[in-house]
Amino acid sequence: MDMDDELCLCFHVRKRKVVNFVRVERPSVASQLSECGGAGTGCGWCRPFLKRIFVSATAGAIDDLPEAVDYRSNRQTYIDNGKGTPPAS
Ligand code: FES
Repeated sequence: MDMDDELCLCFHVRKRKVVNFVRVERPSVASQLSECGGAGTGCGWCRPFLKRIFVSATAGAIDDLPEAVDYRSNRQTYIDNGKGTPPAS
């Protein structure tokens, strides 16, 4: 996933925005990433990836997440399987 790809597909929050949020705002727990454009508060698919970004960015690194096309496709499967509901658009 590139920095300009969407990490939270429900709220169109890009990976770059989340990484910068962690660096600048220094949240103490991963759940505070919800304050970054609502990331993670929709279907829930991105929450494990937000946690990974939280851990890596807190340590000064950038986690290499799955390719955007796979990430998007797997999120659709997750939704199709009834594991999460995206917000109404
Ligand atoms: S992709 Fe982030 S909450 Fe759905």
